[in-house]
Amino acid sequence: MTVMETIKLRKSVRSFEDRPVEDEKLNALLEAARLAPSASNRQEWRFVVVREAEMRKKVAGAANNQAFVGEAPVVLACCAESDNHRMACGQLCYPIDLAIAIDHISLAAVELGLGTCWIGAFQEDKVKSLLGIPDEVRVVELMPLGYPADAGPKEKSRKPLDSIVHWDRW
Ligand SMILES: Cc1cc2nc3c(=O)[nH]c(=O)nc-3n(C[C@H](O)[C@H](O)[C@H](O)COP(=O)(O)O)c2cc1C
Repeated sequence: MTVMETIKLRKSVRSFEDRPVEDEKLNALLEAARLAPSASNRQEWRFVVVREAEMRKKVAGAANNQAFVGEAPVVLACCAESDNHRMACGQLCYPIDLAIAIDHISLAAVELGLGTCWIGAFQEDKVKSLLGIPDEVRVVELMPLGYPADAGPKEKSRKPLDSIVHWDRW
């Protein structure tokens, strides 16, 4: 599978088979995150891998009751160890660094026959309390993952290229 094929195939999966994800596959996804680039190579990503069914349900509750989050066999809490490092351009590093690592996970998952969904609708304080995440650590995203239970939409709903790209000048 080429990178472009993987990108085209990835879609948000919100329904999962009741089937565990093999440890080898889980480790391969975490390895894909570990190899991501990061500003100044700080590698501040940290992941809490939630597999216990009861805890997954509680985390889903903290994710605005999006039940499918808890129905996935694995939920990743994707965290940043610090939130104060900025690049010279002024942008904070941690959301960007986390996004790259999480995207690596979501694309590697496609190649392994797994589905994922980015979850930004959650209450960080509740997730931190449930998972014992230290105060200074930020939870940037949740990511349920597992074997997709339905085919989902085939076509991507996206703006045309000429509405998002400016050539040479804005
Ligand atoms: C940062 C981010 C946060 C998101 N949060 C949620 C969420 O809380 N719940 C949800 O069902 N989908 C969430 N999504 C999924 C988007 O709705 C989805 O990516 C978008 O509609 C495009 O569809 P596709 O992923 O199938 O290509 C999120 C996506 C991103 C990138």
